[in-house]
Amino acid sequence: MSFRTSRWLRSLSARVVLLNTVITVGLSGLMILVLCWLAEGFMQDHLDDTVLDEIRILEAEFGVDGRRGVQQLISRRLAENADGRQAYLLLDADGRRLAGNLAAIPAKSPSRADWYEQPTLHQPVDASLRLRRLTLADDSTLVVGFDDHEITAFVDALQRAAGLGFAATLLLGLVAGALSSQLTLGHLDIINRTATRIIEGDLGHRVPLRGSNDEFDRLSATLNEMLDRIGELMESVKRATESIAHDLRTPLARMRNRIEVARFAAPVDPAGQQELLDALCQEVDRVLTVFASLLRLATIESGVLRSGFQRVDLRPLVDDAISLYEALASEREIGVSLTIAGAAADGCIVDGDRDLLFQAICNLLDNAVKFSPDGGDIGVELALADRVVRICIDDRGPGVPVEHRERVFDRLVRLDHSRASPGFGLGLSLVRAIARLHRGDCHLQDGAPGTRALLELPQAS
Ligand SMILES: Nc1ncnc2c1ncn2[C@@H]1O[C@H](COP(=O)(O)OP(=O)(O)O)[C@@H](O)[C@H]1O
Ligand SMILES: [Mg+2]
Repeated sequence: MSFRTSRWLRSLSARVVLLNTVITVGLSGLMILVLCWLAEGFMQDHLDDTVLDEIRILEAEFGVDGRRGVQQLISRRLAENADGRQAYLLLDADGRRLAGNLAAIPAKSPSRADWYEQPTLHQPVDASLRLRRLTLADDSTLVVGFDDHEITAFVDALQRAAGLGFAATLLLGLVAGALSSQLTLGHLDIINRTATRIIEGDLGHRVPLRGSNDEFDRLSATLNEMLDRIGELMESVKRATESIAHDLRTPLARMRNRIEVARFAAPVDPAGQQELLDALCQEVDRVLTVFASLLRLATIESGVLRSGFQRVDLRPLVDDAISLYEALASEREIGVSLTIAGAAADGCIVDGDRDLLFQAICNLLDNAVKFSPDGGDIGVELALADRVVRICIDDRGPGVPVEHRERVFDRLVRLDHSRASPGFGLGLSLVRAIARLHRGDCHLQDGAPGTRALLELPQAS
């Protein structure tokens, strides 16, 4: 078997089509066998009835015209049907032949009582005679029989037609199998070629779509979506790595400068040295804090924390977070007001991790307070609708331009207006990771003026 042939025979679709064909042929073969058997039985019964009817006619003739009448009827019948498919014999009481085309009384049938059998008188011989014998009132013997060639011919024709049908079905099955496997293999080859190009480094390559919307087109579209998603993830990992490298370079460079100064500063001034070490410690702490936050983010994004989820009421969490930030806010004359909307008054239960949810709310409040102008009020709203709990935090700060509203959720991203304020640009990344861990999400919107941070979480079932 050549490589190409064996390849299409090993293809799943070809095997399915072939199996289907074999089952169809098998089942219809069985059906035709049963049909033959039933038809044969029915035709044999009918032939037997014809023989019995004929013998009754001859018996009746005997009753009317005696043996001569029977002799004449037999002669007429044989003249009308000279092909040897009907057999007659009339013997007198002494066994002398008076009429008919049979030489002697045939042999008894081995399987059927009262019936006789012998090959047909037709030439060439192609069937057997089914005969009955009757002793008439004057002790003469009458034998009558018809041959069954019509039954054999019918069954033969049926079997031949079925055989041809099966051969055609098998052939069609093979052709259909070959075609379908070629189609399948063609599509798979395209996918395979795309995968090879991607492996070889052409990461932007995608599986071409034919627009037929068949299962292969849909599979290709899903694969392309998956590749796009992987591409986005790789891009975000790359961005994160770059920003980490960039962000750590500044404190590390500062630390290096300070160490350099300490190395060459002489004579050593104990107070100055203490100051230098304190500053170094602060820088190291900064770096350690960034690493701790990055590790925490990675843990949250891995989803492992879901196993510890419990039912958490968000209402007291929001209250606690507001109390925590109230002191800081009031120093800058910022008022924080809480509105509980509609069904939220009866409790906002979600499945989750209390500490993480508290941290998410705090991070959003922290930004609102941090970026609010002195005296600018902050509005917090807790609402429940369509089985989704919504926490909205509105501030009157500078707002986030629409083109940066997604970017600020990336790790270590801080906008220019925040350079002076403390932070590492990881707060919103954490909030989104926590929201997604709880199968919710977080977005920034235009607070007109200011920012509206929206945290949405599915209500516990
Ligand atoms: N309420 C807000 N108003 C204005 N800018 C905001 C607000 N929240 C977030 N931002 C912008 O998004 C950036 C990322 O926020 P975040 O991840 O919390 O980092 P951080 O608070 O450490 O700066 C902030 O530096 C700021 O530029
Ligand atoms: Mg923040």
